[in-house]
Amino acid sequence: MKSTTRVAITGIGSYVPERILTNAELEKMVDTTDEWIVTRSGIRERHIARPDQATSDLAAEAAKRAMASAKVTPQEIDLIIVATLSPDMPMPNTACFVQHLIGAKNATCIGMEAACSGFLFAMDMANQYLLTGRFKTALVIGAEKLSGVTDWQDRTTCVLFGDGAGAVVLQARTTGEGILSVVTGSDGSLAHLLNIPAGGSRTPTSVETIEKRLHFMKMEGKEVFKHAVRAMCEASRKAVEQAGLTLSDIACIVPHQANMRIVEAIRDRLGVGPEKVFINLDKYGNMSAASIPVALDEAIQQGRIKPGDNVVFVAFGGGLTWSSMVVRM
Ligand SMILES: CC(C)(COP(=O)(O)OP(=O)(O)OC[C@H]1O[C@@H](n2cnc3c(N)ncnc32)[C@H](O)[C@@H]1OP(=O)(O)O)[C@@H](O)C(=O)NCCC(=O)NCCS
Repeated sequence: MKSTTRVAITGIGSYVPERILTNAELEKMVDTTDEWIVTRSGIRERHIARPDQATSDLAAEAAKRAMASAKVTPQEIDLIIVATLSPDMPMPNTACFVQHLIGAKNATCIGMEAACSGFLFAMDMANQYLLTGRFKTALVIGAEKLSGVTDWQDRTTCVLFGDGAGAVVLQARTTGEGILSVVTGSDGSLAHLLNIPAGGSRTPTSVETIEKRLHFMKMEGKEVFKHAVRAMCEASRKAVEQAGLTLSDIACIVPHQANMRIVEAIRDRLGVGPEKVFINLDKYGNMSAASIPVALDEAIQQGRIKPGDNVVFVAFGGGLTWSSMVVRM
């Protein structure tokens, strides 16, 4: 009897720029303190890309590492999806630049716009393509140069974000591992809570929008916090249930790394111990779409996630959007 076909993570890689920006340095840039940032967010430092690095450059580095770990060649990649809210340009999509940088000539290239949920939305999309057999080997990347869309004069946001990229290779397998369940959701009525107001068709870039700093990220932090905790808890519970598992079967939860207090609230509500939840936001800040694949790569390297483990991913972001996924590694 043929066993179930599932889409598995067969390779993973990540890359963060070398330059580290500490809270102490931020104290010199805006009216803030290390103490405020650490107690409100848990973030101690973040990585910042060089001016000559675009999001696709970060993505390509992560992609090369993921391909090496999966032992696939660029020619074997037939689908690239890049999730980002900080694309190289509005057009073409960032996956096209990545394709060129890594020489994946046979790939179809798609951009995914779902803010911090983008990586899981892209995984979900690739999952569907691979299950139908339309594509065989997908590269799913979350990559962000958020330093380019951050208002470095706005202390309420600039302390929270960082740059980086993470990538996975996905392939269909019949050996048990792979994506067991996916939950996604969106609420466009709350789009105003987290957005970049100018630079699109609603409010094209003008001298006025630049003077008003509307081309930078804006966030109503308290509201976002509330919705994030609720949506991430519900989505995780549903994803675990749909996988036919309980939380006791889960070896590790890898949440979107936005904020320590959000993660702690989720941990409390789900009733799981700190040993079950992977956290690295202290070193990177919120890297939006890149945060989950970078965290997953580190969790595997540190031995926190092993082959055969059931892992929960859960994300939340602008849109609003949210997603959770259970994957057997
Ligand atoms: C952003 C966040 C950390 C702010 O924490 P908070 O407890 O809600 O803080 P508030 O916004 O109420 O601000 C409290 C005070 O600190 C001040 N403050 C804001 N940023 C500050 C900073 N970097 N340094 C020092 N003080 C700051 C505020 O101006 C405010 O001062 P006031 O009381 O005199 O008006 C919190 O709302 C949060 O974590 N939100 C979710 C953010 C997130 O992760 N978003 C991404 C999801 S994908």
